[in-house]
Amino acid sequence: MKKVGVLVASYGSREVAMVDAFARSRNYRVELYVADKQRNPFNVQRAAKHVVIPDLNVREICKFAEANRDSIDFGIIGPEKPIIEGVRDLVEKQTGIPLICPTKEYAIEESKVQQRLLFQEIVPEVNPRFKVFDPKDYKNTAEVKQAVESWVDELQDQAVVKPDKPTAGKGVGVWGDHFTTREELFEHFLSNYQHGTVIIEEKVKGEESSFQAFCDGKHLVPLPDTRDHKRAFDDDKGPNTGGMGSYKDKGDVLPFLSKADRQRELEVVEKIFGKWRSEAKDSSGLRGVPLYVAFMHTGKELKILENNSRPGDPEIINVLPILKEDFIDVCFRILEGNLTRIELEKSATVATYKVPPSYGGYAETFPNLVRKVEVGMPVDLSGAYGLSGKYGDNIRVYPASMEQRDGETYALKSRAVCVLGVGDDLETARNVSLEGINAVKGGALWSRTDIASKRHIEKSVKHMEELRRKR
Ligand code: GLY
Repeated sequence: MKKVGVLVASYGSREVAMVDAFARSRNYRVELYVADKQRNPFNVQRAAKHVVIPDLNVREICKFAEANRDSIDFGIIGPEKPIIEGVRDLVEKQTGIPLICPTKEYAIEESKVQQRLLFQEIVPEVNPRFKVFDPKDYKNTAEVKQAVESWVDELQDQAVVKPDKPTAGKGVGVWGDHFTTREELFEHFLSNYQHGTVIIEEKVKGEESSFQAFCDGKHLVPLPDTRDHKRAFDDDKGPNTGGMGSYKDKGDVLPFLSKADRQRELEVVEKIFGKWRSEAKDSSGLRGVPLYVAFMHTGKELKILENNSRPGDPEIINVLPILKEDFIDVCFRILEGNLTRIELEKSATVATYKVPPSYGGYAETFPNLVRKVEVGMPVDLSGAYGLSGKYGDNIRVYPASMEQRDGETYALKSRAVCVLGVGDDLETARNVSLEGINAVKGGALWSRTDIASKRHIEKSVKHMEELRRKR
């Protein structure tokens, strides 16, 4: 069997799902070289070499790649930070190892303004109304405040405040959720504006879908739509998080959308990709997942909330375990520029995350509860892993922000562990995911209970029906 060495830069469950897919290769003897945010117990067990780079610094990732250059055939990068910082450009130049992720030029996740301007040129109809506030354009706070006020007047308060850069300030703030008065809105604005440019957009209402596509530079191969659950608590309450869980129906289309909705998504992404390709000196820079689009279906025109330049976490976990092909072969085809299609099992999948006590605003919402719970206790994943005896490959347990220390596994600060259920329908997949999540013991971890629930889906279906009627 041919040996293949793969470099993986890993942040959480998204990359653990990749490691799992590689480790299950039937066609190759895979050696994994994992540059990890921490000693992730899943990765540590499967890696031939494992290194911890807490900030996923691109120079350190490059050093690790260089030290193992002779054994590594290619690399794949999941997290946004190194992609935005140009890991591909650096590693390919220094080591010659090809990476699967966009080059810095195509990592448009780096700038929300850049994204809006790009869409404005190619598909202006998907942009909500927006205005850019660049500190260079205003003399003082009073001047920018006046400009913000008059723009928010135009939007009749229905505003979303976004920092240009992914990590600046307090992040995205939405009228009605993060602020309900002009003072609060401006306070949120300033917390971002002091770090740089801010964009204020019209808030669009509707139902969200996550679109992802693999790209080999020449072809864009769409993956099925998934639905993320971004809010911390059941019924989509509480602050936004990285995603508490996600689902995918049996086919490519979500239960609350139509084939025509999906078709419209495809038209939009094809237009963006087509423009990129036609203007690129070297379109192989687009390799990876350059378009992971958060769409908002409004019942009228489709809108883009934002685009990311990497796979979604958890959304890619809904897809990788049901690939019909060997993931190594898929990666080779991406690198060769001949990825024209991807075959998936016709299964529904549901991913649920369990998170630590203070995650997602729980500490602010329930301060007394969080103070009482015991943290720093080990987490026991054995019950969840044990369910593979019952469900076989239809359950996957993917630790994320967890660390192996002194033979025990501990949850750190972010999403701790994701359990994926696979089934013939969403309900079966959800039950497997929930049983797995409930079998994770210790660490005072908690999860949403309504990921892909019948009630949640019916609500989305009804909402879309209402929105379409208003058209
Ligand atoms: N699920 C949201 C994200 O990956 O950004």
